[in-house]
Amino acid sequence: AYVVTENCIQCKYTDCVDVCPVDCFVEGPNFLAINPDECIDCTLCVAECPAEAIYAEDDVPADQQEFIALNARLSAIWPTITGRKDPLPDADSNNGKAGKRDLLVE
Ligand code: SF4
Ligand code: F3S
Repeated sequence: AYVVTENCIQCKYTDCVDVCPVDCFVEGPNFLAINPDECIDCTLCVAECPAEAIYAEDDVPADQQEFIALNARLSAIWPTITGRKDPLPDADSNNGKAGKRDLLVE
């Protein structure tokens, strides 16, 4: 499955949602996650993310391995998002910022 990682936090551009053929994204307050049981590994979302936050499970950076389990856990509790919406207000200034992990709101 594909995995949403740290740089989505506080950005949530949602361009990824529009291209997913199986609607496997779920939405929280400041992060999206991918349901690993529904993702069909089509790769389409990767290039759409302005934050470059989406990786194949095998390519998730070493310091972000926890996001693999986090996507699975959050996809069980958050609702599905099926359409694009406006990014968070400070998305552009938060794109690429370090240390966003602690800002994730469940
Ligand atoms: Fe959806 Fe394809 Fe991305 Fe998986 S890889 S989340 S199926 S767009
Ligand atoms: Fe997040 Fe990128 Fe989608 S910032 S909402 S994974 S387009």
